[in-house]
Amino acid sequence: MSNRAYEDELLAAIYDEDNPDGPDHDYFRELARDLSAACITDLGCGTGLLTVTMSGPGRTVIGIDPAAAMLERAAARSGGATVTWRLGTSELIEADSSDLIVMSGNVAMHILGDAWPATLCDIRRGLREGGVLAFEARNPLAQAWQKWSTPAQTRDTAVGRLREAVTTSAPDELGIITMDSVNEFLDADEAINVSQRLQFRTFETLREDLGAAGLAVRNVWRDWDRTPFTGSADEPLMIVEAVSADVALGARAET
Ligand SMILES: C[S@@+](CC[C@H](N)C(=O)[O-])C[C@H]1O[C@@H](n2cnc3c(N)ncnc32)[C@H](O)[C@@H]1O
Repeated sequence: MSNRAYEDELLAAIYDEDNPDGPDHDYFRELARDLSAACITDLGCGTGLLTVTMSGPGRTVIGIDPAAAMLERAAARSGGATVTWRLGTSELIEADSSDLIVMSGNVAMHILGDAWPATLCDIRRGLREGGVLAFEARNPLAQAWQKWSTPAQTRDTAVGRLREAVTTSAPDELGIITMDSVNEFLDADEAINVSQRLQFRTFETLREDLGAAGLAVRNVWRDWDRTPFTGSADEPLMIVEAVSADVALGARAET
């Protein structure tokens, strides 16, 4: 099976109804406002639902994603012309360009193996002085994958009836799970098999990985209302804000 989760036009067409605007998007918008961000990069912007809502007067917004089907929808959406769209991954982030780099919708978990440290180095290079990286990831201690396998069920979508079934593996030694799904668009008479891999990382691993790229955690929240994360298994979400380690050190020296 190939990974077509984000490369298929029918799956891209139903992405927004499965992943609507909500408190996560509010959080990223508020962070942009609090930082008075003049330039925002949305890495793994997908269909651009959040991306376009972050644009505004006096602000540059750049959306980057490797999936053409997602990016085409992003560019075509209302407000799409206010954003610069780039097809690719983090190497397209310009040096010293961004006051805020976001990876919403668990993008970080899609970036596996050696691509993850390389992505963090590109992000570090792309942050302006005082710039912030913000992203969420799932806490492996909460073992969310245990609930992801589902027998075949049918629902109505914007592109007709969809029968879907999901089988999820336990994590391997790197914390990578594989989610295999069969997606049958009954009215379009198209069946799409998707094999998706996601990497679960503990908070300690995230902190180490960020540190190795020259980034330091400034906050970690357990929810979109900014409740501090304590590291327990009943906190499924980790929302991480990181800054350049030089900036973090400077701030500490001043206090
Ligand atoms: C779950 S979607 C999230 C989309 C959007 N950020 C949101 O909040 O809905 C994950 C996205 O990550 C993108 N992606 C996968 N690998 C990536 C990588 N190495 N760098 C950047 N984006 C990547 C996918 O193409 C997909 O659009």
